[in-house]
Amino acid sequence: MYKDIYYDDIFFNPTGLKHAQKLITSENYYKRIIEKSYHIYKKLEIIETDTLLDIGSGLGDVGKNFSKISKQVYCCDINQNFLNMAEINCQNRNNISFYKIIDFDTPLNFLKDSSITKAYASEVFVHCYIDTIINYLKELKRVLKPNGLFLFEYCIESSRSIFIPIDKNKLEDAINKLNFNIIKSEPFTTHTDKNFNGIKLLLSNEKKI
Ligand SMILES: C[S@@+](CC[C@H](N)C(=O)[O-])C[C@H]1O[C@@H](n2cnc3c(N)ncnc32)[C@H](O)[C@@H]1O
Repeated sequence: MYKDIYYDDIFFNPTGLKHAQKLITSENYYKRIIEKSYHIYKKLEIIETDTLLDIGSGLGDVGKNFSKISKQVYCCDINQNFLNMAEINCQNRNNISFYKIIDFDTPLNFLKDSSITKAYASEVFVHCYIDTIINYLKELKRVLKPNGLFLFEYCIESSRSIFIPIDKNKLEDAINKLNFNIIKSEPFTTHTDKNFNGIKLLLSNEKKI
């Protein structure tokens, strides 16, 4: 069985804590959190009645920002250390909850059908194999309300092993078969790899006519 990068033992106790420390002390961590939050807020046009899903929530900082301006935020991650720290980070908020991804075939099995208005995976799928991404898309089809939105990025090429390049055509094929609409597609880059080439996609759950 393939394993996504963050699934490896190196990201779990006690090395997982080291990884979290590295993340939080990396250059301009909070500046980037604010930039990412604002970008997602604008793209998804988040409003106070929204029920949000944050896939790969990390330390919970983006979800925490949105818990102030939305009805409910569901966060999930494959890394238990990040989830533990995110829960502490958000302990004074009563509308944000955290879930560990256990089943890779049905990763969102903690959510009811048509329960989410808007979802995002910020800098997460760039680390995932295509089968993982497709499994998430299948689940998003189930949990997103009609017209629900999903924002994410993926990697096409990179010189660093932490990023997993995937086949653009195979992904777009899956998106079409699942009847998502591509609302916007734009280039995505990362400050951590100048050779990175990726795409940011905004999908809508409405059916094509
Ligand atoms: C670079 S961090 C981004 C954290 C956060 N989304 C942000 O933008 O600050 C990547 C996160 O994705 C999580 N992750 C990686 N693969 C995942 C998967 N298949 N399902 C859920 N979370 C995953 C990692 O554990 C980590 O918390």
